[in-house]
Amino acid sequence: MDQIKIFAPASVANVSCGFDVLGFCLDPVGDEMLIRKTNASGVKITKIEGQNLPLDVKKNVAGVAAEALLKAHPTQSGFEIEIHKKIKAGSGIGSSAASAAGAVFGINELLGKPYTAHELIAFAMEGEGLASGSAHADNVAPVLMGGITLVRSINPVDVIQLPTPKALTAVILHPKIELKTMHAREIIKKNVTMEKAIQQWGNLGAFVSALFNEDYDLMSRSLKDEIVEPMRSLLIPEFESLKKASIDAGALGFGISGSGPSVYALTKGIDSAQKISNAINKVISSIGIDFEIHISKINEQGIKILTN
Ligand code: HSE
Repeated sequence: MDQIKIFAPASVANVSCGFDVLGFCLDPVGDEMLIRKTNASGVKITKIEGQNLPLDVKKNVAGVAAEALLKAHPTQSGFEIEIHKKIKAGSGIGSSAASAAGAVFGINELLGKPYTAHELIAFAMEGEGLASGSAHADNVAPVLMGGITLVRSINPVDVIQLPTPKALTAVILHPKIELKTMHAREIIKKNVTMEKAIQQWGNLGAFVSALFNEDYDLMSRSLKDEIVEPMRSLLIPEFESLKKASIDAGALGFGISGSGPSVYALTKGIDSAQKISNAINKVISSIGIDFEIHISKINEQGIKILTN
């Protein structure tokens, strides 16, 4: 096999109670990537469509991740990467993670799969480090492993796949303003009170238990973020009204997707997701910002191979 075309999906990180550790993979939104094995050595990014991003391998998350893999697994072959971006950079739904994870997934396939999805996380994370100033795996892990993941540790990488309750459905609102992850990380205060920390690990543990037991009421009680959301929500227009509208329309929880500006709601079933989508559409339409809304099941597969 000399080339592979893949769909590298968007993802939601943090999921309110799990800053930097929880994430889930989305279905309808994602980039397409074409990766070719060549005779020349090294990595080349030959084309990027849809976004104005650097072709320079050292300045592009896909290039950095690809080089990290090839450093660990030297080979005579080279690789060309073509990226068709559908996920906007700075949207909060894992644009850089899709590119970084897609690059290492594709190269790994063309090399005959020397690495497992779990092992690829460390390479993809290096790309994330370039994009956000510090490596984190809460977007790349669900993209590579599929479903909902919990990052117990990044050094060494230890990621646990959590169960996906069948009816769990996400609604994503992407207000079209750009928020750079690097900036959204800088504004977070570095200290947390013991009281807030206790609330957060109580909620995180409860959410994990709720996934195992398909306990939607417990999910609803635990999808809370008392630490990061109060700081970052100030950067998102109408955050509190959107949250109220979603919860009133039946959302189990509502919060910032990754570092924003996208926001997410989780709910049980497509009908409820449609009601939430209508409710947030009404709120966001009233302020005159361009936006997109996606309804998505949790993508349990992660990256998909389109053609070889
Ligand atoms: N956990 C990261 C953050 C995700 O919130 O900064 C960013 O994509």
